[in-house]
Amino acid sequence: MPSITIRQLDEALKKKLRLRAARSGRSVEDEVRTILREAADERGSAAADDPVPAAKRAISRSGAAAAPGRKRVLLIIGGGIAAYKSLDLIRRLKERGFAVRGVLTKAAEHFVTPLSAGALLGERAFTELFDAASELDVGHIRLARECDLIVVAPATGDLMAKMANGHADDLATAALLAAGTRILLAPAMNPHMWANKATQRNLARLIADGVTIVGPNEGEMAEHGERGLGRMAEPLEIAAAVERQFAEAGALAGKRVLVTSGPTHEPIDPVRYIANRSSGKQGHAIAAAAASAGASVTLISGPVNVPDPSGVSVIHVETARQMLEAVQQALPAEVAIFAAAVADWRVANAGEQKIKKKPGQATPELALAENPDILSTIAHRKSQRPKLVIGFAAETENVAANAQDKLRRKGCDWILANDVSPSTGIMGGDRNTVALVSTGGVEQWPPLSKEDVAAKLVARIAGAIEK
Ligand code: C5P
Repeated sequence: MPSITIRQLDEALKKKLRLRAARSGRSVEDEVRTILREAADERGSAAADDPVPAAKRAISRSGAAAAPGRKRVLLIIGGGIAAYKSLDLIRRLKERGFAVRGVLTKAAEHFVTPLSAGALLGERAFTELFDAASELDVGHIRLARECDLIVVAPATGDLMAKMANGHADDLATAALLAAGTRILLAPAMNPHMWANKATQRNLARLIADGVTIVGPNEGEMAEHGERGLGRMAEPLEIAAAVERQFAEAGALAGKRVLVTSGPTHEPIDPVRYIANRSSGKQGHAIAAAAASAGASVTLISGPVNVPDPSGVSVIHVETARQMLEAVQQALPAEVAIFAAAVADWRVANAGEQKIKKKPGQATPELALAENPDILSTIAHRKSQRPKLVIGFAAETENVAANAQDKLRRKGCDWILANDVSPSTGIMGGDRNTVALVSTGGVEQWPPLSKEDVAAKLVARIAGAIEK
Protein backbone atom coordinates (compact mmCIF):
# COMPACT_ATOMS: atom_id res chain seq x y z
CA MET A 1 0.00 0.00 0.00
CA PRO A 2 1.51 3.40 -0.90
CA SER A 3 2.36 5.46 2.20
CA ILE A 4 -0.04 8.24 3.22
CA THR A 5 1.21 11.81 2.86
CA ILE A 6 0.77 14.40 5.58
CA ARG A 7 -1.54 16.36 3.25
CA GLN A 8 -3.75 13.30 2.68
CA LEU A 9 -3.90 12.66 6.42
CA ASP A 10 -4.76 16.31 7.06
CA GLU A 11 -7.52 16.27 4.42
CA ALA A 12 -8.96 12.96 5.64
CA LEU A 13 -9.09 14.18 9.24
CA LYS A 14 -10.72 17.48 8.23
CA LYS A 15 -13.33 15.65 6.15
CA LYS A 16 -14.13 13.31 9.01
CA LEU A 17 -14.45 16.22 11.42
CA ARG A 18 -16.75 18.17 9.08
CA LEU A 19 -18.99 15.08 8.75
CA ARG A 20 -19.09 14.63 12.54
CA ALA A 21 -19.92 18.31 12.98
CA ALA A 22 -22.69 18.16 10.34
CA ARG A 23 -24.23 15.15 12.07
CA SER A 24 -24.08 16.59 15.59
CA GLY A 25 -24.92 20.15 14.62
CA ARG A 26 -21.90 21.40 16.56
CA SER A 27 -18.91 23.34 15.21
CA VAL A 28 -15.73 21.61 13.99
CA GLU A 29 -13.83 23.27 16.85
CA ASP A 30 -16.30 21.81 19.38
CA GLU A 31 -15.83 18.37 17.83
CA VAL A 32 -12.03 18.66 18.17
CA ARG A 33 -12.45 19.67 21.83
CA THR A 34 -14.75 16.69 22.45
CA ILE A 35 -12.26 14.27 20.85
CA LEU A 36 -9.40 15.65 22.92
CA ARG A 37 -11.48 15.45 26.10
CA GLU A 38 -12.45 11.84 25.30
CA ALA A 39 -8.81 10.95 24.66
CA ALA A 40 -7.80 12.51 27.99
CA ASP A 41 -10.58 10.58 29.76
CA GLU A 42 -9.45 7.33 28.12
CA ARG A 43 -5.89 7.95 29.27
CA GLY A 44 -7.26 8.70 32.71
CA SER A 45 -9.29 5.50 33.04
CA ALA A 46 -6.46 3.38 31.65
CA ALA A 47 -4.26 4.94 34.32
CA ALA A 48 -6.78 4.02 37.02
CA ASP A 49 -6.02 0.31 36.49
CA ASP A 50 -2.34 1.05 36.28
CA PRO A 51 -0.04 -0.22 39.05
CA VAL A 52 2.25 2.81 38.44
CA PRO A 53 2.18 5.16 41.46
CA ALA A 54 -0.17 8.14 41.14
CA ALA A 55 2.65 10.69 41.11
CA LYS A 56 4.23 9.08 38.06
CA ARG A 57 0.84 8.72 36.39
CA ALA A 58 0.21 12.43 36.71
CA ILE A 59 3.25 13.09 34.59
CA SER A 60 2.40 10.58 31.87
CA ARG A 61 -1.22 11.75 31.69
CA SER A 62 0.00 15.24 31.01
CA GLY A 63 1.50 13.94 27.77
CA ALA A 64 5.17 13.86 28.73
CA ALA A 65 4.80 10.07 28.75
CA ALA A 66 8.36 8.89 28.74
CA ALA A 67 8.94 5.18 29.23
CA PRO A 68 12.14 4.30 31.10
CA GLY A 69 15.08 5.47 29.08
CA ARG A 70 12.96 7.63 26.74
CA LYS A 71 14.08 11.21 26.39
CA ARG A 72 11.50 13.98 26.04
CA VAL A 73 11.73 16.50 23.25
CA LEU A 74 9.65 19.67 22.99
CA LEU A 75 9.39 20.59 19.30
CA ILE A 76 8.59 24.23 18.60
CA ILE A 77 7.44 24.73 15.03
CA GLY A 78 8.04 28.24 13.72
CA GLY A 79 6.29 29.94 10.83
CA GLY A 80 8.09 29.17 7.61
CA ILE A 81 7.48 27.07 4.55
CA ALA A 82 9.83 24.42 6.03
CA ALA A 83 7.21 23.82 8.77
CA TYR A 84 5.76 20.96 6.71
CA LYS A 85 9.06 19.12 7.14
CA SER A 86 8.68 19.43 10.91
CA LEU A 87 5.64 17.16 10.72
CA ASP A 88 7.93 14.50 9.29
CA LEU A 89 10.44 15.36 12.02
CA ILE A 90 7.81 14.42 14.65
CA ARG A 91 7.63 10.95 13.08
CA ARG A 92 11.41 10.64 12.82
CA LEU A 93 11.85 11.57 16.48
CA LYS A 94 9.12 9.21 17.63
CA GLU A 95 10.52 6.29 15.64
CA ARG A 96 13.84 6.95 17.39
CA GLY A 97 12.13 6.43 20.74
CA PHE A 98 11.75 10.07 21.84
CA ALA A 99 8.60 11.25 23.62
CA VAL A 100 7.62 14.36 21.64
CA ARG A 101 5.43 17.33 22.57
CA GLY A 102 4.69 20.10 20.10
CA VAL A 103 4.11 23.85 20.10
CA LEU A 104 3.07 25.80 17.01
CA THR A 105 3.60 29.55 16.75
CA LYS A 106 0.81 31.68 15.29
CA ALA A 107 2.90 32.06 12.12
CA ALA A 108 3.39 28.27 11.93
CA GLU A 109 -0.39 27.84 11.80
CA HIS A 110 -0.34 29.53 8.37
CA PHE A 111 1.72 26.59 7.09
CA VAL A 112 0.60 23.54 9.09
CA THR A 113 -2.44 22.96 11.26
CA PRO A 114 -2.47 22.01 14.96
CA LEU A 115 -4.69 19.14 13.86
CA SER A 116 -2.07 17.48 11.61
CA ALA A 117 0.67 18.14 14.18
CA GLY A 118 -1.57 16.70 16.93
CA ALA A 119 -2.38 13.61 14.86
CA LEU A 120 1.32 12.86 14.50
CA LEU A 121 2.17 13.76 18.08
CA GLY A 122 -0.61 11.56 19.42
CA GLU A 123 -1.73 14.43 21.65
CA ARG A 124 -2.77 18.04 21.12
CA ALA A 125 -0.25 20.50 19.75
CA PHE A 126 -0.02 23.52 22.04
CA THR A 127 -0.58 26.97 20.54
CA GLU A 128 -1.86 29.48 23.08
CA LEU A 129 -0.09 31.30 25.89
CA PHE A 130 -3.22 32.88 27.33
CA ASP A 131 -5.48 29.86 27.15
CA ALA A 132 -7.09 28.58 30.31
CA ALA A 133 -7.28 24.99 29.06
CA SER A 134 -3.57 24.86 28.17
CA GLU A 135 -2.53 26.50 31.41
CA LEU A 136 -4.64 24.08 33.45
CA ASP A 137 -3.32 21.17 31.40
CA VAL A 138 0.41 21.92 31.31
CA GLY A 139 1.22 25.61 31.02
CA HIS A 140 4.31 27.15 29.47
CA ILE A 141 6.50 26.56 32.51
CA ARG A 142 5.79 22.83 32.60
CA LEU A 143 6.15 22.61 28.83
CA ALA A 144 9.62 24.08 29.19
CA ARG A 145 10.54 22.05 32.26
CA GLU A 146 9.17 18.63 31.40
CA CYS A 147 11.53 17.98 28.55
CA ASP A 148 15.17 17.04 28.07
CA LEU A 149 15.68 19.09 24.92
CA ILE A 150 13.85 21.85 23.05
CA VAL A 151 14.09 21.75 19.25
CA VAL A 152 13.04 24.81 17.26
CA ALA A 153 12.36 23.82 13.64
CA PRO A 154 12.04 25.82 11.55
CA ALA A 155 13.76 28.56 13.54
CA THR A 156 12.75 31.67 11.61
CA GLY A 157 14.73 34.93 11.62
CA ASP A 158 12.01 36.42 13.83
CA LEU A 159 12.08 33.58 16.37
CA MET A 160 15.88 33.78 16.54
CA ALA A 161 15.70 37.54 17.12
CA LYS A 162 13.15 37.09 19.89
CA MET A 163 15.19 34.35 21.53
CA ALA A 164 18.41 36.33 21.35
CA ASN A 165 16.68 39.21 23.13
CA GLY A 166 14.66 37.23 25.65
CA HIS A 167 11.17 38.08 24.36
CA ALA A 168 8.27 36.03 25.71
CA ASP A 169 5.12 37.30 24.04
CA ASP A 170 3.71 33.96 22.88
CA LEU A 171 3.73 30.34 24.04
CA ALA A 172 6.84 29.34 22.06
CA THR A 173 9.03 32.22 23.23
CA ALA A 174 7.68 32.03 26.81
CA ALA A 175 8.58 28.31 26.93
CA LEU A 176 12.02 29.07 25.48
CA LEU A 177 12.65 31.78 28.06
CA ALA A 178 11.54 29.44 30.85
CA ALA A 179 13.70 26.58 29.55
CA GLY A 180 16.26 25.08 31.87
CA THR A 181 17.36 22.57 29.27
CA ARG A 182 19.41 22.48 26.10
CA ILE A 183 18.08 24.04 22.91
CA LEU A 184 18.69 22.93 19.32
CA LEU A 185 17.78 25.30 16.48
CA ALA A 186 17.21 24.36 12.85
CA PRO A 187 17.18 27.78 11.13
CA ALA A 188 15.28 28.23 7.88
CA MET A 189 14.91 31.46 5.99
CA ASN A 190 15.65 33.23 2.75
CA PRO A 191 19.45 33.49 2.11
CA HIS A 192 19.29 37.32 2.33
CA MET A 193 17.56 37.13 5.70
CA TRP A 194 20.12 34.55 6.90
CA ALA A 195 23.06 36.67 5.70
CA ASN A 196 21.63 39.86 7.22
CA LYS A 197 23.89 41.34 9.90
CA ALA A 198 21.05 41.35 12.41
CA THR A 199 20.44 37.60 11.97
CA GLN A 200 24.15 36.84 12.18
CA ARG A 201 24.41 38.98 15.31
CA ASN A 202 21.48 37.07 16.85
CA LEU A 203 23.04 33.77 15.79
CA ALA A 204 26.35 34.66 17.47
CA ARG A 205 24.48 35.69 20.63
CA LEU A 206 22.50 32.44 20.70
CA ILE A 207 25.63 30.30 20.17
CA ALA A 208 27.34 32.22 22.99
CA ASP A 209 24.29 31.46 25.15
CA GLY A 210 24.90 27.73 24.55
CA VAL A 211 22.29 27.05 21.88
CA THR A 212 23.23 24.38 19.28
CA ILE A 213 22.53 24.92 15.58
CA VAL A 214 21.86 22.33 12.86
CA GLY A 215 21.94 23.65 9.30
CA PRO A 216 20.87 25.66 7.47
CA ASN A 217 21.71 23.92 4.21
CA GLU A 218 22.40 25.34 0.80
CA GLY A 219 19.88 24.76 -1.99
CA GLU A 220 16.70 25.81 -3.76
CA MET A 221 14.45 28.24 -1.93
CA ALA A 222 10.67 28.22 -1.95
CA GLU A 223 10.89 31.59 -3.74
CA HIS A 224 11.03 30.83 -7.45
CA GLY A 225 14.54 30.83 -8.91
CA GLU A 226 16.30 31.60 -5.63
CA ARG A 227 18.95 29.40 -4.13
CA GLY A 228 21.55 29.79 -1.40
CA LEU A 229 22.16 29.16 2.29
CA GLY A 230 18.93 29.05 4.25
CA ARG A 231 17.12 25.74 3.65
CA MET A 232 16.18 23.98 6.85
CA ALA A 233 18.23 20.83 7.56
CA GLU A 234 16.36 17.69 6.53
CA PRO A 235 14.32 15.90 9.23
CA LEU A 236 16.81 13.00 9.32
CA GLU A 237 19.70 15.42 9.87
CA ILE A 238 17.80 17.14 12.68
CA ALA A 239 16.89 13.78 14.25
CA ALA A 240 20.58 12.77 14.14
CA ALA A 241 21.54 16.13 15.73
CA VAL A 242 18.99 15.46 18.50
CA GLU A 243 20.57 12.08 19.17
CA ARG A 244 24.03 13.66 19.20
CA GLN A 245 22.81 16.16 21.79
CA PHE A 246 22.03 13.35 24.20
CA ALA A 247 25.23 11.50 23.40
CA GLU A 248 27.41 14.57 23.69
CA ALA A 249 26.07 16.39 26.65
CA GLY A 250 27.91 14.61 29.40
CA ALA A 251 25.02 12.18 29.68
CA LEU A 252 27.47 9.50 30.85
CA ALA A 253 29.75 11.78 32.86
CA GLY A 254 31.46 9.88 35.65
CA LYS A 255 30.33 6.47 34.38
CA ARG A 256 32.72 3.65 33.54
CA VAL A 257 31.91 1.92 30.27
CA LEU A 258 33.57 -1.16 28.88
CA VAL A 259 33.32 -2.07 25.18
CA THR A 260 34.63 -5.06 23.25
CA SER A 261 35.13 -4.67 19.52
CA GLY A 262 36.49 -6.35 16.41
CA PRO A 263 37.17 -10.01 15.72
CA THR A 264 39.42 -12.34 17.62
CA HIS A 265 42.24 -14.24 15.94
CA GLU A 266 42.64 -17.83 17.04
CA PRO A 267 46.07 -19.20 16.09
CA ILE A 268 46.47 -22.38 14.08
CA ASP A 269 50.21 -22.01 14.37
CA PRO A 270 52.49 -18.95 14.84
CA VAL A 271 51.67 -17.63 11.34
CA ARG A 272 48.12 -18.77 10.63
CA TYR A 273 44.87 -18.05 12.40
CA ILE A 274 41.09 -18.43 12.28
CA ALA A 275 39.28 -15.10 12.07
CA ASN A 276 36.00 -13.54 10.95
CA ARG A 277 34.89 -10.53 8.92
CA SER A 278 34.19 -8.11 11.80
CA SER A 279 35.78 -4.70 11.07
CA GLY A 280 35.40 -3.24 14.57
CA LYS A 281 33.68 -0.13 13.14
CA GLN A 282 30.52 -0.50 15.22
CA GLY A 283 32.25 -1.29 18.52
CA HIS A 284 34.78 1.50 18.03
CA ALA A 285 31.98 3.96 17.17
CA ILE A 286 30.19 3.00 20.40
CA ALA A 287 33.36 3.51 22.44
CA ALA A 288 33.86 6.93 20.80
CA ALA A 289 30.22 7.96 21.40
CA ALA A 290 30.36 6.87 25.05
CA ALA A 291 33.58 8.88 25.51
CA SER A 292 31.95 11.94 23.89
CA ALA A 293 29.11 11.52 26.37
CA GLY A 294 31.64 11.92 29.18
CA ALA A 295 32.13 8.26 30.14
CA SER A 296 35.47 6.84 31.12
CA VAL A 297 35.75 4.16 28.43
CA THR A 298 37.91 1.05 28.18
CA LEU A 299 37.84 -0.47 24.72
CA ILE A 300 39.11 -4.02 24.42
CA SER A 301 39.75 -4.59 20.77
CA GLY A 302 40.69 -7.58 18.68
CA PRO A 303 42.92 -6.99 15.62
CA VAL A 304 41.29 -4.29 13.44
CA ASN A 305 42.28 -1.74 10.82
CA VAL A 306 40.28 1.14 12.28
CA PRO A 307 42.18 3.69 14.40
CA ASP A 308 41.90 3.83 18.19
CA PRO A 309 39.16 6.35 19.11
CA SER A 310 40.52 9.41 20.90
CA GLY A 311 39.82 9.85 24.58
CA VAL A 312 39.41 6.12 25.08
CA SER A 313 41.75 3.73 26.85
CA VAL A 314 42.35 0.89 24.37
CA ILE A 315 43.63 -2.59 25.19
CA HIS A 316 44.64 -4.61 22.13
CA VAL A 317 44.21 -8.38 22.29
CA GLU A 318 44.22 -11.24 19.80
CA THR A 319 42.38 -14.23 21.17
CA ALA A 320 39.06 -14.77 22.96
CA ARG A 321 40.83 -15.90 26.12
CA GLN A 322 42.97 -12.75 26.15
CA MET A 323 39.81 -10.69 25.60
CA LEU A 324 38.05 -12.29 28.57
CA GLU A 325 41.10 -11.70 30.78
CA ALA A 326 41.26 -8.02 29.74
CA VAL A 327 37.51 -7.55 30.30
CA GLN A 328 37.75 -8.99 33.80
CA GLN A 329 40.71 -6.71 34.54
CA ALA A 330 38.69 -3.69 33.35
CA LEU A 331 35.87 -4.25 35.87
CA PRO A 332 34.14 -2.66 37.70
CA ALA A 333 32.08 -0.78 35.15
CA GLU A 334 28.49 0.51 35.14
CA VAL A 335 27.90 -0.51 31.53
CA ALA A 336 29.47 -3.27 29.41
CA ILE A 337 28.83 -3.51 25.68
CA PHE A 338 30.00 -6.65 23.92
CA ALA A 339 30.26 -5.72 20.26
CA ALA A 340 33.21 -7.99 19.46
CA ALA A 341 32.70 -10.92 17.12
CA VAL A 342 34.43 -13.38 19.37
CA ALA A 343 35.44 -16.68 17.75
CA ASP A 344 33.32 -19.45 19.23
CA TRP A 345 36.12 -21.98 18.85
CA ARG A 346 39.88 -21.98 18.99
CA VAL A 347 42.25 -24.58 17.63
CA ALA A 348 42.82 -27.10 20.42
CA ASN A 349 46.06 -28.38 19.00
CA ALA A 350 47.61 -25.15 17.68
CA GLY A 351 51.14 -25.79 16.44
CA GLU A 352 54.03 -24.28 18.36
CA GLN A 353 55.90 -24.10 15.09
CA LYS A 354 54.63 -23.39 11.60
CA ILE A 355 52.86 -26.49 10.30
CA LYS A 356 54.83 -27.62 7.23
CA LYS A 357 53.36 -29.00 4.05
CA LYS A 358 55.39 -32.09 3.26
CA PRO A 359 55.02 -34.14 0.08
CA GLY A 360 53.01 -37.30 0.63
CA GLN A 361 51.90 -36.31 4.13
CA ALA A 362 48.20 -36.34 5.06
CA THR A 363 46.37 -32.98 5.27
CA PRO A 364 46.52 -31.80 8.90
CA GLU A 365 43.27 -31.91 10.85
CA LEU A 366 42.35 -29.16 13.24
CA ALA A 367 40.65 -30.13 16.48
CA LEU A 368 38.56 -27.25 17.91
CA ALA A 369 37.92 -26.35 21.53
CA GLU A 370 35.13 -24.04 22.69
CA ASN A 371 36.13 -20.52 23.69
CA PRO A 372 34.76 -18.91 26.85
CA ASP A 373 31.63 -16.86 26.24
CA ILE A 374 32.72 -13.44 27.50
CA LEU A 375 29.28 -11.83 27.45
CA SER A 376 27.63 -14.70 29.30
CA THR A 377 30.49 -14.92 31.83
CA ILE A 378 30.19 -11.24 32.73
CA ALA A 379 26.37 -11.19 32.67
CA HIS A 380 26.24 -14.13 35.09
CA ARG A 381 28.81 -12.73 37.54
CA LYS A 382 27.70 -12.63 41.15
CA SER A 383 30.02 -9.75 42.01
CA GLN A 384 30.92 -6.72 39.94
CA ARG A 385 28.22 -7.40 37.35
CA PRO A 386 27.80 -4.15 35.39
CA LYS A 387 24.34 -2.57 35.86
CA LEU A 388 23.69 -2.77 32.15
CA VAL A 389 25.12 -5.64 30.09
CA ILE A 390 24.54 -5.33 26.36
CA GLY A 391 25.29 -7.97 23.74
CA PHE A 392 25.07 -8.11 19.98
CA ALA A 393 23.43 -10.79 17.90
CA ALA A 394 24.63 -11.04 14.35
CA GLU A 395 22.17 -13.35 12.68
CA THR A 396 21.43 -14.39 9.12
CA GLU A 397 17.83 -15.55 9.78
CA ASN A 398 15.01 -15.21 12.38
CA VAL A 399 16.85 -12.19 13.78
CA ALA A 400 14.41 -11.07 16.51
CA ALA A 401 13.49 -14.58 17.72
CA ASN A 402 17.13 -15.66 17.92
CA ALA A 403 18.05 -12.46 19.74
CA GLN A 404 15.34 -12.97 22.36
CA ASP A 405 16.55 -16.50 22.90
CA LYS A 406 20.12 -15.20 23.25
CA LEU A 407 19.03 -12.56 25.75
CA ARG A 408 17.71 -15.31 28.03
CA ARG A 409 20.59 -17.73 27.54
CA LYS A 410 23.35 -15.18 28.04
CA GLY A 411 21.65 -13.33 30.89
CA CYS A 412 22.24 -9.88 29.42
CA ASP A 413 19.89 -6.89 29.64
CA TRP A 414 19.74 -5.76 26.03
CA ILE A 415 20.73 -7.24 22.70
CA LEU A 416 21.35 -5.22 19.56
CA ALA A 417 20.35 -7.63 16.83
CA ASN A 418 21.23 -7.26 13.19
CA ASP A 419 20.91 -9.23 10.00
CA VAL A 420 24.41 -9.86 8.68
CA SER A 421 23.49 -12.00 5.68
CA PRO A 422 25.93 -11.06 2.88
CA SER A 423 23.23 -9.18 0.91
CA THR A 424 22.94 -6.56 3.71
CA GLY A 425 26.61 -5.48 3.36
CA ILE A 426 26.70 -4.77 7.11
CA MET A 427 29.89 -6.73 7.81
CA GLY A 428 32.63 -4.19 7.09
CA GLY A 429 30.10 -1.64 5.78
CA ASP A 430 29.35 1.83 7.17
CA ARG A 431 25.63 1.43 7.85
CA ASN A 432 23.71 -0.83 10.17
CA THR A 433 20.06 -1.78 10.68
CA VAL A 434 19.53 -3.06 14.18
CA ALA A 435 16.73 -3.91 16.56
CA LEU A 436 17.04 -3.25 20.29
CA VAL A 437 15.79 -6.39 22.04
CA SER A 438 15.06 -6.36 25.77
CA THR A 439 12.67 -8.23 28.02
CA GLY A 440 10.28 -5.36 27.22
CA GLY A 441 10.12 -6.31 23.53
CA VAL A 442 11.75 -5.62 20.18
CA GLU A 443 12.31 -2.08 18.95
CA GLN A 444 13.33 -1.90 15.29
CA TRP A 445 15.63 1.03 14.47
CA PRO A 446 15.76 2.50 10.97
CA PRO A 447 18.89 2.03 8.80
CA LEU A 448 21.55 4.31 10.29
CA SER A 449 25.26 4.97 9.97
CA LYS A 450 27.27 3.03 12.54
CA GLU A 451 28.06 6.38 14.24
CA ASP A 452 24.34 7.14 14.51
CA VAL A 453 23.62 3.65 15.89
CA ALA A 454 26.34 4.35 18.48
CA ALA A 455 24.90 7.78 19.37
CA LYS A 456 21.39 6.36 19.67
CA LEU A 457 22.59 3.49 21.82
CA VAL A 458 24.52 5.84 24.11
CA ALA A 459 21.44 8.06 24.45
CA ARG A 460 19.34 5.05 25.42
CA ILE A 461 21.98 3.85 27.89
CA ALA A 462 22.15 7.29 29.48
CA GLY A 463 18.36 7.32 29.84
CA ALA A 464 18.25 3.82 31.29
CA ILE A 465 20.96 4.24 33.90
CA GLU A 466 19.58 7.64 34.91
CA LYS A 467 16.32 5.93 35.82
O1 C5P B 1 26.44 -16.43 20.51
P1 C5P B 1 26.83 -15.28 19.67
O2 C5P B 1 28.25 -15.29 19.23
O3 C5P B 1 25.90 -15.02 18.52
O4 C5P B 1 26.62 -14.02 20.65
C1 C5P B 1 26.99 -12.75 20.26
C2 C5P B 1 27.23 -11.90 21.47
O5 C5P B 1 27.98 -12.61 22.44
C3 C5P B 1 28.05 -10.70 21.13
O6 C5P B 1 27.69 -9.66 22.03
C4 C5P B 1 29.48 -11.17 21.39
O7 C5P B 1 30.34 -10.10 21.66
C5 C5P B 1 29.29 -12.05 22.60
N1 C5P B 1 30.21 -13.17 22.66
C6 C5P B 1 31.19 -13.19 23.63
N2 C5P B 1 32.02 -14.27 23.73
C7 C5P B 1 31.91 -15.31 22.89
C8 C5P B 1 30.91 -15.30 21.90
C9 C5P B 1 30.10 -14.22 21.81
O8 C5P B 1 31.30 -12.22 24.39
N3 C5P B 1 32.74 -16.33 23.00
